[in-house]
Amino acid sequence: MSSVLTNNVPANKPLHQDSFKVVQISDLHLMETPEDYYRDIDVESSFLRITKHIQRDHQDADLLLLTGDCVHSGGAEVYQRIQNRLNQMNIPWRWIPGNHDDAELMAMLFGSMLDGMQLGRWQVTLLDSTSEGNGWGRGSLSEQELERLAVRLSLSGPHFIVLHHNPLSVNSRWQDEIALANRTRFLALLDQCSDSGVVIFGHVHQDWEFDYGRWKMFSCPSTGVQFKKCCDSFQIETRVPQALPGYRWFRLNDDGNFMTRVERCKG
Ligand SMILES: [Fe+2]
Repeated sequence: MSSVLTNNVPANKPLHQDSFKVVQISDLHLMETPEDYYRDIDVESSFLRITKHIQRDHQDADLLLLTGDCVHSGGAEVYQRIQNRLNQMNIPWRWIPGNHDDAELMAMLFGSMLDGMQLGRWQVTLLDSTSEGNGWGRGSLSEQELERLAVRLSLSGPHFIVLHHNPLSVNSRWQDEIALANRTRFLALLDQCSDSGVVIFGHVHQDWEFDYGRWKMFSCPSTGVQFKKCCDSFQIETRVPQALPGYRWFRLNDDGNFMTRVERCKG
């Protein structure tokens, strides 16, 4: 039975679909005031440009996912600004916290969005990987989140797992030091699952695709600032097209097959 999301906007999609479109945006890093820049980039304008691009090309999306680091500085007013913009898009959406977010504030203001959901046969699981943060990018899944994931993975898939921190190396020393801290336990749960599926994450400000056993894993660009790939230390990406803001979208078919693509916005 297809379960089309109904929060944020009224459901206006057919109840019986054989494929679903999911759009991922990540690492907005919006500032306390919209005029402030992050790493010399006008992240507010860049985020708005991305949302317009999505409205233009993916108005048929069934779900828009924000995979963390929604806010870089500031509090409730910034989350409210994001929510106001998302609600204008008429696409059901969910967000998860990243290491720069205030997970408790997000839940207090807007309610937890970490519940599991179904898109046709796909089991969608949103996770909070911000446990045991150190203020420098680190994060892990709490025991509670690992238990919740195990329960979700016991359901008949395919699965679509969403978290902020990368569970695999991206071949950058500084980024691998702040990858998902307890990734070994996360990956063990995937290994034990009799089904397969997709894992998506943010955090790296780069687009990646990985094979992991029966699983495929993907990240997407930031809506604002991109990090240079494969570096020992932090560097901003300045080369085009890698430096352009972007997002990823998926077409999930009910037979478990899918396709995905990264889009970059030139302006
Ligand atoms: Fe980030």
